[in-house]
Order: sequence, then structure tokens, then C-alpha cells
Amino acid sequence: MTFLANLDWRFAAKSFDTDKKVSGTDLEKILHAIVMTPTSFGLEPYRIDVITDQATLDKIQKSSWNQAQVGTCSHLLVFSARTDVMARINKFFETASGGNPEAREKMEGYEDMMNGAMANKSPEEILLWAQNQTHIALGFAMAACAELKIDSCAMGGFAPHEVKEILQLDDIFTPTVLLPIGYRAEEPTRQKFRFGAENIINNR
Ligand SMILES: Cc1cc2nc3c(=O)[nH]c(=O)nc-3n(C[C@H](O)[C@H](O)[C@H](O)COP(=O)(O)O)c2cc1C
Repeated sequence: MTFLANLDWRFAAKSFDTDKKVSGTDLEKILHAIVMTPTSFGLEPYRIDVITDQATLDKIQKSSWNQAQVGTCSHLLVFSARTDVMARINKFFETASGGNPEAREKMEGYEDMMNGAMANKSPEEILLWAQNQTHIALGFAMAACAELKIDSCAMGGFAPHEVKEILQLDDIFTPTVLLPIGYRAEEPTRQKFRFGAENIINNR
């Protein structure tokens, strides 16, 4: 495990070397980290679109304050929260039971608990919940990148409605965060800023 050692190495890359591409093997590892991300109730309320088509990247860059990371990256991962939570719960139990009614019946208590927990949430609460889960997947992807010494830059600076339109996503999806990945075009020019443990950690 080299992630902890690479925490100082990683930084939010502002542009990527367009001649260097992330290998298929490494991409699979990053996507596996996303697949294995723990989420609330295990519902994984998101989708990830992996974009390499340059014309699409250029369009998304224009919808992202023209940030160069998007147009120069090797792959752009678009993380979108999904808000069809009740259908997602149904799908969860259908899949987990392998379509076997007896196996599903054994999980009835858990299914009722999940339905009860989510049914009365407002659309805003569901979106917030789904976006929170989406950011966990983002964190796992960034950690996998650092482990593999692949650069990345989490990006919230974009117009979600425009990206949704570009990718022709259904209404249940809300683009939440972008993660361009690749290899840094240059070394960081700024000092890493952190408030420090004394500011954010409280031992009580
Ligand atoms: C959710 C999120 C959104 C971010 N949005 C942007 C962005 O739109 N553009 C950008 O250049 N950096 C963005 N960043 C990068 C942060 O500014 C950066 O991670 C932070 O300043 C710490 O610097 P470091 O990652 O180089 O250690 C974002 C980071 C996160 C986690």
C-alpha cells in the first residue's frame, strides 16, 4: 500500500500531458476502487461516465469554466448522483436475492427498513444523500489514482445542467463532480496548503 506515502506526492493537477495515456490495466484498477466503494445501505446511488472522445471533452471543458484539465486529460470520469432511490432499493434486493423469491423473503426486514428510511425523504434530501455517496466514490477513485501514481483533479467547477445535456443523461442523474485523470503536464508551482491537524482534529 503506497497511498499514505503518496499523499504528499498527489496534488490537484491543473493540466495533463496529452502524450501520456492511462493504461487499460490501471483504468480497470481505478474503476474497481469505485465499484468497491462503501455507500449508505450499499445502494451505490450514482453512475460514472468515462469519457475519452476529444470532441466531448472539449464541450465539457467549455461547461467547466474552460478549465484545461478537462480537455487535456487521458480519461474524464463524470460522477453523477442518481435519485431513483426506491427503484434502486428494489433493484438491490432483486439482484442480491438472484431473483429467488425465498431468498428475497429472508431479507424482507432489511428491505422494509431501507424503504422506511428513504420513503419519506424530500427530493432535495435524496439528492443530497446521493451526492454525499457520490463523493465517497470520488475519494476512492482519487486514492486509487494516488496509489498508482496517476494524477487527477477533482472538479466541482462546472455547470451540471450543461454536462447533463452533453452526455444526454436521464432526469434521474445529476452530474456532481468531475475527475480528469492522466499524467501531470508540469510539477506543482504552489505550496500545498492545509489548515493542519490542530485546526481540524479534536482529541476529547
Ligand atoms: C469536490 C472538489 C471540487 C474541486 N473543484 C475544483 C475545480 O473545479 N477546479 C480545480 O482546479 N480544483 C478543484 N478542486 C481541487 C482543490 O482545490 C484541491 O484539491 C485543494 O485545493 C487541495 O489541493 P491539493 O489537491 O493540490 O492537495 C476540487 C476538489 C474537490 C475535492
